[in-house]
Amino acid sequence: MAETFIGVIGGSGVYGIDGLEGAEWRAVATPWGDPSDQILVGRLGGVPIAFLPRHGRGHVHTPTTVPYRANIDALKRLGVTDVIAVSACGSFREEMAPGDFVLVDQFIDRTIHREKSFFGPGCVAHVSLAHPTCARLADAVAEAAAAEGIRIHRGGTYLAMEGPLFSTQAESKLYREVWGCDVIGMTNMPEAALAREAELCYCPVAMVTDYDSWHPDHGAVDITAIVATLTGNADNARALIRRLPGLLGGDRAPCPHGCDRALDHAVLTAPER
Ligand code: ADE
Repeated sequence: MAETFIGVIGGSGVYGIDGLEGAEWRAVATPWGDPSDQILVGRLGGVPIAFLPRHGRGHVHTPTTVPYRANIDALKRLGVTDVIAVSACGSFREEMAPGDFVLVDQFIDRTIHREKSFFGPGCVAHVSLAHPTCARLADAVAEAAAAEGIRIHRGGTYLAMEGPLFSTQAESKLYREVWGCDVIGMTNMPEAALAREAELCYCPVAMVTDYDSWHPDHGAVDITAIVATLTGNADNARALIRRLPGLLGGDRAPCPHGCDRALDHAVLTAPER
């Protein structure tokens, strides 16, 4: 049976994790180019962990220039089996307040300038994305959050926008009132889709920083307020991550939802070609 190897993709405000035993930053080359940064690899409670800052240390990548394919491929090459994807988000729901975490389970992808698949001419595959996140990982994250006293919402639809500008108020109201979205962010797609193509379990942990621009009692979203909320939240994110090895570590049974077998009937191109 395979060993669990946890990958953590850190979003804005989360550029490292502490307490890793034998930690070293490793450069990983991929056919898709370089990942956002080197990857910090070590062990936590004996469980292998790889940490990748999505925007790179020093926050050098915009949501559009993040090399999503290289990032997912690099984690896969290291042997990662399960990915926890931390990111900041705006909220469309009063009850999903700044400081809360949301375990996103659905996406509407409005990004337009990103490579969204590992497949293409020469190797054609159509992988199911009906349920784009892993409920088994979400169970573990929810348990870790409860143990840390972090307010967490289980389930939510994430509107992935291209950015880097924030939404207009008309867009914000459309996503909230007409499309029924719960949160908005700039980075979880195509990351989630690529993780599925790479047969990795993937669980987004979206940290609410603002009410975007729909809320009559809150001003338009601005980056200074977002960074202030993120700074307060980053400790919670790190505390949550420290609990995961105890909940997920050790021998790994096949994913009950089939994330790790997503390609099983998806490839159309004949192998002998
Ligand atoms: N990240 C954090 N808040 C956001 C917002 N309101 N829109 C898009 N991305 C965000």
